[in-house]
Amino acid sequence: MPDISKSTVVGAAPAGAKDRHSTAQAVEAMFTSIAPRYDLLNHLLSLSVDRFWWRAAARTFQPVVANSDATILDLCCGTGDMAFALRRQAGKVSPRILGADFSHAMLQRAAAKSAAAKTKQNGTPGWIEADALNLPFPAEHFDLVTSAFGFRNLADYDAGLREIVRVLRPDGECGILDFGEPRGAIGAFYRIYFKQILPRIGTLISGVRGPYAYLPASVERFPAPDEMIQRMKAAGFAEASWTPYTFGIAGLYRGKK
Ligand SMILES: C[S@@+](CC[C@H](N)C(=O)[O-])C[C@H]1O[C@@H](n2cnc3c(N)ncnc32)[C@H](O)[C@@H]1O
Repeated sequence: MPDISKSTVVGAAPAGAKDRHSTAQAVEAMFTSIAPRYDLLNHLLSLSVDRFWWRAAARTFQPVVANSDATILDLCCGTGDMAFALRRQAGKVSPRILGADFSHAMLQRAAAKSAAAKTKQNGTPGWIEADALNLPFPAEHFDLVTSAFGFRNLADYDAGLREIVRVLRPDGECGILDFGEPRGAIGAFYRIYFKQILPRIGTLISGVRGPYAYLPASVERFPAPDEMIQRMKAAGFAEASWTPYTFGIAGLYRGKK
């Protein structure tokens, strides 16, 4: 078991960030700059496996999602794909699903996608501009909080976990979906793709230098699963676990308050 008191990683460290405030500013500016091409690049760079990951994560929370009285928050929702996966998983049931992000440009895309969605009559997700480290919700408000590929970008991971615990109802659940670092031969091959090829394609198509080099660096910096599980427990989760997806290229952290 790693000793989390010895871990030096507080949170994300994008170029130019010095403290919590400048980190948030740099992350927000980065995602705003790639918002127009974000969906295209996501699907292209993951060969559309991202759709499978959102769906698998949503399926995990079927008992919550299938409850029409449930209130669900998708944190760092970006253009909304995790929230839409939850919506689809709910089928004919209409839990209240809210996506929160601090990038206005990403939320605009999410809202445009929900306006076009066929599921409209069944209650599309709502969208709110908010910082994951300072959520505008009372304590014990949500039955489920999810975050897909967003949590890793927070300026303070422990503060982010404590904020999720705060807004969850007793017995509420949390699902954090993010990239991992696969091991063995697949890991070696994947690292070449993730560190050498992906940043080049991302930079070329987005037309923005930086974000697609930050991506592998931020995954490398992110705590390993056993450390994250300990941090989740220290933040107040009674149960915490990690399930690898696709050889550990991604994985789902699951917490129960
Ligand atoms: C990689 S995108 C993920 C978007 C979406 N969840 C998905 O699966 O495609 C990360 C998102 O997290 C958002 N984000 C990062 N830090 C945040 C914070 N402190 N508060 C709110 N949103 C944040 C960014 O603006 C960005 O839209």
